[in-house]
Amino acid sequence: MDATKLRRAIARTPLAPVAAFPKRLARVARHDATVLRTSARWLFTSREHHNYTYDLTRLSREHLAWFVAVTCDAPVAQVRAWFAELDGDEKMRRHIETATATAARRGLADRQVRYARRIGWYAVVRARRPAHVVETGVDKGLGSCVLAAALLRNAAEGHPGRLTSLDINPEAGYLARATPWADVVDLVVGDSIASIRALDRPVDLFLHDSDHSRAHERSEFDEIEAKLAPGAMLLTDNVTATDVLATHAERTGRRFLAYRETPARHWYPGDGIGIAW
Ligand SMILES: C[S@@+](CC[C@H](N)C(=O)[O-])C[C@H]1O[C@@H](n2cnc3c(N)ncnc32)[C@H](O)[C@@H]1O
Repeated sequence: MDATKLRRAIARTPLAPVAAFPKRLARVARHDATVLRTSARWLFTSREHHNYTYDLTRLSREHLAWFVAVTCDAPVAQVRAWFAELDGDEKMRRHIETATATAARRGLADRQVRYARRIGWYAVVRARRPAHVVETGVDKGLGSCVLAAALLRNAAEGHPGRLTSLDINPEAGYLARATPWADVVDLVVGDSIASIRALDRPVDLFLHDSDHSRAHERSEFDEIEAKLAPGAMLLTDNVTATDVLATHAERTGRRFLAYRETPARHWYPGDGIGIAW
């Protein structure tokens, strides 16, 4: 009996899993060794303890370009150009590096500026040209800076807009307190639900990125409905963890799509962007 016939014969017997064990072990060990190597490097080279930053793999970035192109009805080449525009914003990159190096929490932040899926947020704002963006959950203010940079570019092209950034922590948003980004950002301290109720201008683009419990995410989308401008777009940063926005989209007659990012050279499996429109 030749080797192929023997393998097929064994595959039909209860011995098959035992025979395949060495090959299966080698596969999973190779995968786990890569994760362990990446994790060990991160432990000794990064200072971050939450809200990790990283670049996206080339493929993940390309998938994100298509995701924004489809959800915002924009040419994919234009979306790639918006990504490149953010990459090329040296003034903001230097500001973030400097502000991070001098911040009170500098011991827990990396100097290197990496936007991850926030490049998608940037392109969405460039594509939609919203007059009013609301972001819940600010942390250091990296996302606020990215959103503000897109609003500033829109304003230079004759489409001004403002960002209201909501966080329960009074220390949040230190990256977004410098000019010119601060000129278009209103930082509001307090629980996001109360802050959404207090909004007094229609919202064109809403991004959930605060308390990622299912109940809180659902409450934010319920509360924001009464504040939305016609045709507003809803985003969530929690799409890999819950179906809250998908369910909300179905209930309110919107379309929904999800993108899952792939971080480059990082152990973290990545988050994503959910969009309802
Ligand atoms: C994941 S971070 C936000 C990340 C930020 N959007 C960015 O781009 O880096 C979550 C933030 O939500 C804030 N937060 C948690 N619960 C909140 C609540 N009930 N209302 C408002 N902000 C809240 C936290 O203080 C924290 O800064």
